[in-house]
Amino acid sequence: MKILGISGSPRKGKTTDKLVKEVLSATNCETEFISLAGKKIAPCSACLGCVADNLCKINDDMVWLREKLLTADAYVFGAPNYFSTLNSLTHCFLERFCQFRHRSGSALAGKFAAIVSIGGIAPEIPANVIEAMLPYYQIKHVGTVTAQGAASCFTCGHGENCSAGAVSILLGPGQKITKENIPDLSRQPEKILEAHMLGKKIEARLLANAPISKKNCFAPDCQ
Ligand SMILES: Cc1cc2nc3c(=O)[nH]c(=O)nc-3n(C[C@H](O)[C@H](O)[C@H](O)COP(=O)(O)O)c2cc1C
Repeated sequence: MKILGISGSPRKGKTTDKLVKEVLSATNCETEFISLAGKKIAPCSACLGCVADNLCKINDDMVWLREKLLTADAYVFGAPNYFSTLNSLTHCFLERFCQFRHRSGSALAGKFAAIVSIGGIAPEIPANVIEAMLPYYQIKHVGTVTAQGAASCFTCGHGENCSAGAVSILLGPGQKITKENIPDLSRQPEKILEAHMLGKKIEARLLANAPISKKNCFAPDCQ
């Protein structure tokens, strides 16, 4: 059984990547992590080119990602909040799942998904958008973990003096940025714990669902 973790953050190695990896690390299944950072993924163009054969005709990174999606049994989708919604890179990625859902069924039907949702101020918003998209693809939602990430305003060099930025919104106007007040996953141990519990939950759902022959993971009850 394979779990595919996909982080839709364009910032490699930041909060979304880290928390997706925490969920994956808690499972005893085969896992793969993919960052969408730098990937070319266009939005769905509504051309209907995928209706007859469930194959999107746009030639970009979704071509090889498509195969990864089809062969995985479950997913961990992670995304950051940009302007009070799901960031557009992740939205484009999920829009392109449209190719799977023609002719009374989805090629992804019955697969499971856990959601990792990050925001500088409102971390829960991307999860709500992703969760609303899953039923279109007949993917079963297993659970969600949210956490606070550091908005770029903490490191842009102008955060302390900028009235429009996240520093002023979170700490109040004129506050100094210190190592301690920059949001960081290391100061949210309860979120790491939640991520691990979510990893265990997705593994349990896979085990409960799998035929004996497919239980090729290393969990004790898989042997
Ligand atoms: C263009 C942009 C818009 C953002 N808008 C919001 C927002 O509306 N609400 C919020 O809570 N965080 C917002 N953020 C902050 C990000 O959610 C935060 O930096 C998060 O940690 C990003 O995830 P990452 O660390 O994995 O890159 C925004 C960040 C960027 C770059």
